[in-house]
Amino acid sequence: MSQQQWWRDAVIYQIYPRSWADHDGDGMGDLPGITARLPHLAGLGVDAVWLSPFYTSPQHDAGYDVADYRDVDPRFGTLADFDAMTAKAHELGLRVIVDIVPNHSSSDHPWFQEALAAEPGSPERARYMFRDGGGPNGDEAPNNWVSNFGGPAWERVTDPDGSPGQWYLHLFDVSQPDFDWTNAEVGDEMESVLRFWLDRGADGFRIDVAHGLVKVAGLPDAPAGHEIADAVRTADFPMWDQPGVHDIYWRWRKVTDSYAVEGQDADRILCAEAWVRPSESLALYVREGELHQSFNFSFLMSPWIATEMQQVIQESLEAVEAYAAPQTWVLSNHDVVRHASRLGYDPVPGLLRMEGIGADDPQPDAEVGLRRARAATTVMLALPGSAYLYQGEELGLPDATQLPDDVRQDPTWEKSGHTSRGRDGCRVPVPWEGDAPSYGFGPTESSWLPQPEVYGELAVDRQAGVEGSTLELYRALLRLRREHRVGRGELTWRDLGEHALAFEVTSESGPGILVIANVGGEFVALPEGSEILVASGPIDTEQGLPIDTAVWLTTS
Ligand code: GLC
Repeated sequence: MSQQQWWRDAVIYQIYPRSWADHDGDGMGDLPGITARLPHLAGLGVDAVWLSPFYTSPQHDAGYDVADYRDVDPRFGTLADFDAMTAKAHELGLRVIVDIVPNHSSSDHPWFQEALAAEPGSPERARYMFRDGGGPNGDEAPNNWVSNFGGPAWERVTDPDGSPGQWYLHLFDVSQPDFDWTNAEVGDEMESVLRFWLDRGADGFRIDVAHGLVKVAGLPDAPAGHEIADAVRTADFPMWDQPGVHDIYWRWRKVTDSYAVEGQDADRILCAEAWVRPSESLALYVREGELHQSFNFSFLMSPWIATEMQQVIQESLEAVEAYAAPQTWVLSNHDVVRHASRLGYDPVPGLLRMEGIGADDPQPDAEVGLRRARAATTVMLALPGSAYLYQGEELGLPDATQLPDDVRQDPTWEKSGHTSRGRDGCRVPVPWEGDAPSYGFGPTESSWLPQPEVYGELAVDRQAGVEGSTLELYRALLRLRREHRVGRGELTWRDLGEHALAFEVTSESGPGILVIANVGGEFVALPEGSEILVASGPIDTEQGLPIDTAVWLTTS
């Protein structure tokens, strides 16, 4: 049995440091809090943790606005805390993936401050995308690009003498200026940052906005009247998925490969966050010599419809076939509505609720959502490849859909002119103990976003050891996945009717596993003589698999 290249079937758990565990009681999670809670993950049975950014940052975009790539923000701790956390994780057999943010820095970064103080055309300005404005007085933005958070992607600066100056590009918040990757200094700096964390023991990187680093030369207008969300080809937009990004990642792969240790399964890995379509373009990121993984968001975006899910899974597997790279699967993260809430609505193809859910929006059906979420995860963890879990999904946490608007912190809410609620709903601190202040998130009542009451009922201590709980379901799935190594298996579809998503996956430890999900239909009869290994919900042995339930069965 091949144990090499651990990442090929790894289950990687995303920690959002602000919201996982608060050690010092200030209401914001921190690295010592994470260290103390790591045994939860060892017990869950994951292989690695990926931490969203904990760098020095003014936190205008929850840490994805980095002011110092080589330090820890005091809110989260110190470099020594990072070292202690990494040591503890390694001791528990968990790898540590750091989030690298190479598309933009914070406007507090010393480079950007130097750029503001320097002249147009200076080497200091050349590290970012400064341009003269259009129109007779230079007071029109250099092109029509819009920020991902709403509003124009350009901001005009004021020169040291007080007069209006050049404009700079920010594909995200105004406090996140885009680097100019045609400038060799930027690439050298990022390589040095990678080495800094690799030398401290990081096992790899999740690459933020990996498809955005290279822009079409001359910065032409984006296609007008054409929404990126509807684009068939992301690369039709001059700021996304341009061929030059791949050169960057070939270089990075050489860096991570240089840390390989002969005879040890110790690959340092690179995973792209690239919202790229079509699947074939996304697959290019995992070509031989390039990245190890790329998030496959098409599965997350699929509606709860068996035929659509089957098509997405099939296309995803085919897309990477040519490159002998594993596919990745993910259902929730810190940028989207949690799947226990997302799936609590009638399935509408193409409707993702990326804009978040507010108290005055139609609310998801919590029971239906949780049942489908458990079934979706039961399917996901049987798929060949690597899977990513988002903190709290193992508790079946829903999004906080009733947050008062005045506590929202995601810049999306303000920047969209209050049209998009943003991502705070999925970022609320995790409950550990049902009866403790802040549900055990920290030692005090304090929590940077208020926790819904239902989080108390879903706390870790309310579910641990309780048969049928979501936590015990995840533990069972992860144990069986490891035992049978289905992540290294091959998938074959089975036709069990319109509402059944059914496939067999080969196992490295004997007969294969048959996975069946009843996606919104009447009972699905289970094959005779099969033994149930794990099920996402109660099963009626007479009638079969109930609606919105999934099961793993032995095939012999
Ligand atoms: C990525 C992150 C998101 C962040 C954005 C800008 O999409 O996942 O949270 O806002 O990049 O860095």
